[in-house]
This record gives sequence, C-alpha cells and structure tokens, in this order.
Amino acid sequence: MRKKKIIVAITGASGSVYAKLLLDSLLKLSDQVEKVGVVMSDNAKEVWRFELGNEDYDLYPFTFYPKMDFNAPFASGSAKYDTMIIIPCSMGTLGRIAHGISNDLISRAADVILKERRKLIAVVRDTPFSLIHINNMKTVTEAGGIICPASPSFYSLPKTIEEVAQTVVSRVIDLAGLEQDSYRWNEE
Ligand SMILES: Cc1cc2nc3c(=O)[nH]c(=O)nc-3n(C[C@H](O)[C@H](O)[C@H](O)COP(=O)(O)O)c2cc1C
Repeated sequence: MRKKKIIVAITGASGSVYAKLLLDSLLKLSDQVEKVGVVMSDNAKEVWRFELGNEDYDLYPFTFYPKMDFNAPFASGSAKYDTMIIIPCSMGTLGRIAHGISNDLISRAADVILKERRKLIAVVRDTPFSLIHINNMKTVTEAGGIICPASPSFYSLPKTIEEVAQTVVSRVIDLAGLEQDSYRWNEE
C-alpha cells in the first residue's frame, strides 16, 4: 500500500483529546504514513491548554504550519495530499469551508481537498446544532466531504475519558483508510 500524506487540522471546538489521540495514533501508524502536516487555529491551542492542561502539541515530530501560511504545500492541489482530517472541527471552520471562504490555511486546505476530489473528514463538535450548522454539514457532504461527528460509542464498554474518545478516533482512522487494531462489534 502506498504511504499516505495526511493533513491534520485542529480547531477551537471542545475535544482537544480527540486531536491528541489522533496524533498519537498517527505516530504509531508511521509505516502507513509518509507525511503528517498539522495546522492549529489560535483557539485550538487555547482549548488544548484549557482542556488538557499542557502545550504538548509542540512535542509531536510532525511538521506544524502556521495558520496563515499559504506557502504550506497543501495550500495547493499540486502537493497531492490524500486526506485531511479536521479534529475537532468547530462550527466556525465548518461554515467557512461550506462557503468557500479560504481565508486561513485550514479553510484553504479543505477547499483544495474538496476541489481535487480527495478525502475530507470533519469531526464536527457542538451541541445542539442550529439549522445553519446542519445546512453547512449538508453542503460539505454534497461537496464530497465526510461529516464524522464527535459522538462516542459505548458498546465497547470504555472505562476512561481517553477510551471513550478513542471510539471516535478509531472511526476516523478507518475512514482515512489506515489499518489499525481496534474494537470491532461482535468480532472474535
Ligand atoms: C473552551 C472552549 C470550547 C469551545 N467549544 C466549541 C465547540 O465545541 N464547538 C464550536 O463550534 N465552537 C466552540 N468554541 C468556540 C470556537 O473556539 C470559536 O467559535 C472559534 O472562533 C472557532 O474558530 P476556529 O475554528 O478557527 O478555531 C469553544 C471555545 C472555547 C474557548
């Protein structure tokens, strides 16, 4: 299998633990991943500090791009990144993507992924949703994106917050086409 080039965008929705667990998983899946480019919004960093109590995003050995860096490779379709995962995805970022407002690297990279007909996975997080949010999810879905809500499952009987959050992250990894060992319903 060809190794994948993946963009991870982290935005300022609640659920930094999802981003942390995804980055941890991508480290472990390095045999399937050629490159991981990461971009964080300002609020993503603030929420991570608040919810996880650290700035450990700085410790990952991936390439981090400033949120206004339109010179990042994946700001252009020619860089041929396979997949973009936005985790967690705020309603603000969702709205900018749905309306083609490419005014930062996250919304531009998503615009590129959609126009190149590649895979966009948006782990949206808010509750409840307004009709504006729902319409934006519909628009992104119609444009080829995958809305993968940050809604954990409980049938694997998770015991910790990380195990609960991992139920979402494992689905994201499956959607990205990466092979992993994870809980499978009713499998031996
Ligand atoms: C602690 C905290 C939690 C937040 N949780 C959410 C959330 O779950 N969903 C959401 O859409 N916005 C949430 N926000 C608001 C976003 O951070 C804000 O709308 C921001 O402008 C989004 O911009 P970004 O997508 O560029 O990060 C939260 C903000 C803070 C400070």
